[in-house]
Amino acid sequence: MPRHFDALVVGGGIAGLSFALEIAPHGRVAVLTKRSRSEGSTNYAQGGIASVLSEDDTFEAHVEDTLTAGAGLCRREAVELCVRQGPSRLRELVRLGAQFSPGKPGHEFDLTREGGHTRRRIVHAKDMTGREVERALLAACDEQGERIQFFEDHTSVDLILDQRRGRRCVGAYVLRPDGEVDTFLAPVTVLATGGSGKVYLYTTNPDVATGDGVAMAYRAGASIANMEFMQFHPTALFHPEARSFLISESLRGEGGILRLRSGEAFMGRYHPQRDLAPRDIVARAIDAEMKRTGDDYVTLDMTALSRAFLMERFPNIYATCREHGIDMAVQPIPVVPAAHFQCGGVQTDLRGATDLPGLLAIGEVACTGLHGANRLASNSLLEGLVFAHEAARLARELMAEGSLATAPDWDPGRAVTSDESVVVSHNWDEIRRLMWSYVGIVRTDKRLARARRRLELLRDEIRAYYWDTRLTRDLVELRNIADVAWLVVECAARRQESRGLHYTLDHAAASPRAEETLVRRDPRAGAA
Ligand code: SIN
Repeated sequence: MPRHFDALVVGGGIAGLSFALEIAPHGRVAVLTKRSRSEGSTNYAQGGIASVLSEDDTFEAHVEDTLTAGAGLCRREAVELCVRQGPSRLRELVRLGAQFSPGKPGHEFDLTREGGHTRRRIVHAKDMTGREVERALLAACDEQGERIQFFEDHTSVDLILDQRRGRRCVGAYVLRPDGEVDTFLAPVTVLATGGSGKVYLYTTNPDVATGDGVAMAYRAGASIANMEFMQFHPTALFHPEARSFLISESLRGEGGILRLRSGEAFMGRYHPQRDLAPRDIVARAIDAEMKRTGDDYVTLDMTALSRAFLMERFPNIYATCREHGIDMAVQPIPVVPAAHFQCGGVQTDLRGATDLPGLLAIGEVACTGLHGANRLASNSLLEGLVFAHEAARLARELMAEGSLATAPDWDPGRAVTSDESVVVSHNWDEIRRLMWSYVGIVRTDKRLARARRRLELLRDEIRAYYWDTRLTRDLVELRNIADVAWLVVECAARRQESRGLHYTLDHAAASPRAEETLVRRDPRAGAA
């Protein structure tokens, strides 16, 4: 029996939960999360939320900084929308109970700086901003009682389209923890699945970031834009057991200096804003220095700041470094770049609508035009808040016009239980390694062609295995990362220029015309 709701939200981060909270007074909402309900990128966000809140800041300056980082590819309307709504959305979060680090007496918030910002405008909760935001949103959701129902350990498999109603999205097939597949139906389906850092071998993202929303939307025939713009965070902790733990850019905002292992500070050779240059420039500079010196890492030097300040301002990072034997008050922190944020995604308009009726996308999964070719630090939690708000307004209209949908139950076909989970782990590993080696910070036509050839083979193999095997979450995720990796390569190969995060040695200059890269699957192409 299908489960019916007024809105189906896939993902429980800042965008999904904010949307659910706004819609709850108007209908019943299901929120699906692949693991526990707080497990997603929001929960790990360290930096903060960028917003114009100080007297020496202006909307124009925040807009300008965002456009500059975006390297000519931002949609100005999306940027204006986010920047101008920022303070209201942030105050709503505070009303819901989120507690941010207070400023000096007379200042509501302690505002920090990150790369590419010309003003201090990042609101934060020490170095655990996402955790505080997620806590406050979940607590607010719980107050809604039955109106917001969470389904943990539920993995969305594919979107359901009603062919008779103009390929309208009417819900999703969802894998339950017991291995059965349920049908969830709703007049509005919202992808809030976050990003796809797990496509790369090294990433700051949690394990759930397997690009599920992009992959499902692509298979359903929605337009996918700008997937070549994968942001590499310049500073993840370099330690064999640290799994690319993020070392927040706000450390550099508070005075941290990047140095070679020899002690030389090098960012002055790359950009006038030195350590606070936009992220793409810092990540490329580190990559170039590591290649030049042959070192496995560079260092971030915080030793000019007092231990008391570091412990108070960065308690999580301080403690994690200590756990790994690094005392940041007296020793530089070894750091390397790692995949961090997907700037492209499912293409949407300013209300979160995709080109499939009934399907919205918000947060990192979406390409709204805010980030262009490179995201300005701490603009992403802001985007999640603003677009959740806009999408909720649209969803109310869709709910009002939506009739009760029907859909066939999931057909397991000839699938049998697999005794070869090695296929999944091997292919998973191969994809992530080849993406790291061939589709990383610096690209070439040849490397992209190699990656494409291998991915096409892998996708064929995964497809065959997928239809023959009973579903598991690992298999669903493998199929998704294979599709997303292919989309990144496809978009990268089409962009015959260097712009923002896409840097290729074969086309080192930016072309005079800035255009989005769009990929759309032919809906008549059959099973994906
Ligand atoms: C960070 O804390 O450096 C990450 C902030 C962001 O990615 O926006």
